[in-house]
Amino acid sequence: MQTKKELVLSQEQIAKRVQELGAQITKDYQGRAPVFIGILKGSFIFLADLVRQVDLPLKIDFVRLASYGDKDYSDGNVQLVKDIELPIEGEDVIIVEDIVDIGYTLAFLVEHLKKKRPASLKICVFIDKRERRRVEVKLDYVGFEASGFLVGYGLDFSEQYRHLPAVYRLIKK
Ligand code: IMP
Ligand code: MG
Repeated sequence: MQTKKELVLSQEQIAKRVQELGAQITKDYQGRAPVFIGILKGSFIFLADLVRQVDLPLKIDFVRLASYGDKDYSDGNVQLVKDIELPIEGEDVIIVEDIVDIGYTLAFLVEHLKKKRPASLKICVFIDKRERRRVEVKLDYVGFEASGFLVGYGLDFSEQYRHLPAVYRLIKK
């Protein structure tokens, strides 16, 4: 398949928005020490940039989720490949995700983490593809809204393009 890349979010736009999100979280969590839980692999760059804009004592952990079916879009069959290692009972948890599409991935993780009884559970996503949502998930912090199939800044197509510093839409030629 031949594809073309079209710029959607520049490095400058991303840096500015991530700084705003970090400042908002710093304000909202004053006096608390949240645990950030990144969803591997897509969130690794966003999480790394975000936490460096948060001026709070904080902890970081990761989960790895897999969804079988079409490899570049999740179906309902989400599975936990790697769980968190830190205890989160009584903690303020912030899930960090790269992109929300149908909503299966986050809905699954929220249910999974709730069982561990955190004091609070919020969601911070880099990109919301809102118009494709079919499963209700409450997003507390959203970087950008966008559409199409996006790559770069952690987002992949068949494991490629994650390292690109900006976000692009892949267009089939
Ligand atoms: P959902 O479960 O349908 O919300 O899908 C979320 C997951 O699908 C994300 O964690 C990504 O791994 C993947 N995904 C959905 N849309 C895109 C995209 O535009 N680019 C790259 N990955 C995507
Ligand atoms: Mg992915």
